[in-house]
Amino acid sequence: MTFSSTIKASVISGSLEENQLATVKEIELPPIKPYQLLIKSEAFAVNPTDWKHILYGLGKPNNIIGSDVSGVVVEVGSEVEGFKVGDYVNAFVRGNTSDTEGAWGEYAIINPKVTVKYDHELKHTESNEAGLINSFEGAASVGLGLVTVALSFSHYLNIDYDQAKNKDKHILIWGGAGATGTLAIQIAKLVYGLKVITTASPKNHKYLKSLGADYVFDYNDDKVVEQIKEVGNNKIVYALDTIAFPETFQKVYDATEGAPEVFLDSLLGVDGSVIETKQERVVHYGYTLAYNVLDKEVVLGPVTFKQTPELLANYEEFWKQYLPKYLDQIKHANLLILKPGLESANEALELSKQGKVSGQKVVFRL
Ligand SMILES: NC(=O)c1ccc[n+]([C@@H]2O[C@H](COP(=O)([O-])OP(=O)(O)OC[C@H]3O[C@@H](n4cnc5c(N)ncnc54)[C@H](OP(=O)(O)O)[C@@H]3O)[C@@H](O)[C@H]2O)c1
Repeated sequence: MTFSSTIKASVISGSLEENQLATVKEIELPPIKPYQLLIKSEAFAVNPTDWKHILYGLGKPNNIIGSDVSGVVVEVGSEVEGFKVGDYVNAFVRGNTSDTEGAWGEYAIINPKVTVKYDHELKHTESNEAGLINSFEGAASVGLGLVTVALSFSHYLNIDYDQAKNKDKHILIWGGAGATGTLAIQIAKLVYGLKVITTASPKNHKYLKSLGADYVFDYNDDKVVEQIKEVGNNKIVYALDTIAFPETFQKVYDATEGAPEVFLDSLLGVDGSVIETKQERVVHYGYTLAYNVLDKEVVLGPVTFKQTPELLANYEEFWKQYLPKYLDQIKHANLLILKPGLESANEALELSKQGKVSGQKVVFRL
């Protein structure tokens, strides 16, 4: 490696006390493998999976925290095609489980399969406004979300890319104001030309319409299922439940009744086995897990998520052929930018864990 291999990173401390999940430590980075890239990190985002790994014991002390990073490529593995030193990128990283690979370090080892390359320079910003991805902070905020939506839409929902075929079809995105939801709304519209129905707290309705949602309903309204069915008019063919509790999935199932065949995906492995279903309905269930793009098999609780050649091929078609065409039209969410420094990891994890952010993505820079 041409760079100092001793770097600072934010790692799992071993404490479960509030505001003490992370600590900054010096670590030794190994040389990258031929299929990897090394980047100099510029900004980081927090995701629920980060604190879940810590609290539920999936990550161990000294594992590098973090799943989202943006930065500049400083080294390219010998087998990697399509990247060069100096490229501006963001990447999803399988963090929280390794002492050498994780997003929140001065440098990060990343995998091109889940890396987004920009054809323009990224700069730092102080602005919290949602907008096109021109900043390191904005880029860091979209990594895991883009991989998740890419896998869900291309493989599990298996949506046709021919927009003409989709013009009468609707998709329901439950939890539109979250990190995954805001990207799912835009991609459903831009890439697939679907009509988008989503749910969020009333204060986020205008924002989600500005991202392209056709209809937004309050998920706390007792009549939300009826409201969705009415505008869906038996044409909701696809749904993604980004919240994925049995009670939200039941509502998604009920609200999508009407179309002859329906594809339902959820982000926490829930399916028809945890809700009340109707035998006469034809429903296909999806099991999106972003880690499956990188890992062949992941066991989380009672569900085993499996990578298949078809899953990878569908994902890669989206990632390589379709995402680049639309990337300059996709907006990152509103940001909540914390103080610079890896020490902000604790505040970021706490804000995400306590669900204190709404319609915003928490980011920080080095
Ligand atoms: N399977 C995967 O690969 C994968 C990938 C990414 C995330 N996940 C998981 O998916 C979940 C969402 O992650 P995320 O990062 O997208 O979310 P997030 O940004 O943390 O989502 C926060 C938003 O969720 C909305 N919300 C909360 N309860 C809701 C409900 N009952 N109905 C509808 N919306 C509700 C809130 O909307 P309002 O502010 O409008 O109230 C809030 O803004 C997490 O459990 C995460 O671990 C899984």
